[in-house]
Amino acid sequence: MTLRKFLPTAFTTAVIALTPLMATSALAAGLTVGFSQIGSESGWRAAETSVSKSEAQKRNITLKIADAQQKQENQIKAIRSFVAQGVDAIFLAPVVATGWDAVLGEAKDAKIPVILLDRDIETSDKSLYLTAVTSDSVHEGAVAGEWLAKQVGDKPCNVVELQGTVGASVATNRKKGFDDAIAKHANIKVIRSQTGDFTRAKGKEVAESFLKAENGGKNICALYAHNDDMAVGAIQAIKEAGLKPGKDILVVSIDAVPDIFKAFMAGEANATVELTPNMAGPAFDALIAYKDKGTAPPKWIQTESKLYTPTDDPQKIYDSKKGLGY
Ligand code: AHR
Repeated sequence: MTLRKFLPTAFTTAVIALTPLMATSALAAGLTVGFSQIGSESGWRAAETSVSKSEAQKRNITLKIADAQQKQENQIKAIRSFVAQGVDAIFLAPVVATGWDAVLGEAKDAKIPVILLDRDIETSDKSLYLTAVTSDSVHEGAVAGEWLAKQVGDKPCNVVELQGTVGASVATNRKKGFDDAIAKHANIKVIRSQTGDFTRAKGKEVAESFLKAENGGKNICALYAHNDDMAVGAIQAIKEAGLKPGKDILVVSIDAVPDIFKAFMAGEANATVELTPNMAGPAFDALIAYKDKGTAPPKWIQTESKLYTPTDDPQKIYDSKKGLGY
């Protein structure tokens, strides 16, 4: 039996009042959370899954993860299955932004709180989820764009862009943030932009087509990728085209996965904006406060976005991240 069924809110409050020595974590123990994860398209995603498991373990929470293999229909099925199982809460990393109202309405009817992780949804009914733990992905794109503008100064710069999954909030937002930032600099232009679906293989394939179309890459000044995995694929393509990534073509991307720090050390990448893989920790804490004390979290729990460049001791950062499941 799950804690949700066992302890209705009023009774929970009474129990806390009568047993002051009982730790909050003891109340958290017994919670069962279903997590509809997108898949394992990137190193960042693998780390998020792994960190979510350890954050659940720390709090004695049972975490059931359903891998949707990048398909929204699989996520919808997983949510329905979690509702049928009567879990205490559902975490959802939504592959795309639209099309969630019906299934989240079913979770709401079953009184199961939903927390969004790392991506947003588009809905007119914000009551369909308790909170969203995400970065400001428009800001991430802006940080990348501002970094590039500073690097190139007044020089003309043709940019090729590898977008994330079509329809994903983070792809739309990272594009917008970057476009807005470079709009202030007439010398910087995005000359090609296409999805690489957040994967290394697709990033490489699309970068190859960009290089071919742009005089073997000689017309390209910089590559902006919506995640590091696509950047790593593109770096390989640039090398195979006989150019030096990081020098002939500047490389800026998002996530801060260990492999991009390796690329920094090799002089083959120039900047990344960090996205923490620990979305689940703040989500569990918000959920526990909500279940135990009825404290409603803010609608958005924002994670930090930090810019890293090769001057930031890449070896040290690589070492600190390599055990996190990337
Ligand atoms: O939603 C976060 C994005 O999804 C990460 O930046 C990317 O690597 C992942 O696939």
